[in-house]
Amino acid sequence: MSDIRTFHARKGRVSAAERDGIDRLLPTFGIPEGELDSQSIFSGLPVIFEIGFGLGDATIEMAQAEPGRGIIAADVHTPGVGRLLNRIEGLGLRNVRVLHGDAIEYLRTAVPDSSLNEVRAYFPDPWPKARHHKRRLFRPDLVRLLTSKCEPGGFIHVATDWQEYADAMRQVCAAEGELVLIADSPVPLRSRPTTKFEATGLRKGHVVTDLLYQRQ
Ligand SMILES: C[S@@+](CC[C@H](N)C(=O)[O-])C[C@H]1O[C@@H](n2cnc3c(N)ncnc32)[C@H](O)[C@@H]1O
Repeated sequence: MSDIRTFHARKGRVSAAERDGIDRLLPTFGIPEGELDSQSIFSGLPVIFEIGFGLGDATIEMAQAEPGRGIIAADVHTPGVGRLLNRIEGLGLRNVRVLHGDAIEYLRTAVPDSSLNEVRAYFPDPWPKARHHKRRLFRPDLVRLLTSKCEPGGFIHVATDWQEYADAMRQVCAAEGELVLIADSPVPLRSRPTTKFEATGLRKGHVVTDLLYQRQ
């Protein structure tokens, strides 16, 4: 399996509040090392795994709207991690845990097969240049990985404002034998919150595609 990374190496300034959030709150609202034990973390709630939460505003909205589900929110972007941790504490949310690191690495090494109820990837980096397509999250080996981590009947929900990437996602997911297309929609599904990247894309006139797949 290829280990080409799906994220940009962004530096980004980390504010004092974000740094404090990471130092103080990651031990409480992070994910313990080792194999994921979602039973002990979320007391048996169905688990959503969000890849690339960015600043985490949509994560907060989902956690508030879906108290009966546990959310593992993953991103490599340090300022966003600090911001999300501070908001989790401020709002007293108990159904979100933050993974500060490469979601793919974590899925490969720590997440048991068939253990997730849903994988969500909202506006994954489009990597538009042809020579960068190999870095996309929705490429065959990674779609296989995401599928294998979903329980049978579990879902993969992705949204993008990049039409060529949406077409590539359709192709890759159609070739993944265990996935069934549930919805291919030009409007957000299941009251999905509008994300920051989405709002930027909409201001530029981009068209958003939501794709929902279910593992057979
Ligand atoms: C285009 S941004 C979208 C952020 C957010 N979902 C939104 O819509 O506003 C993509 C995010 O995915 C993150 N990302 C990409 N690959 C990742 C990976 N393998 N593990 C964790 N985060 C990743 C990036 O750091 C970035 O914050």
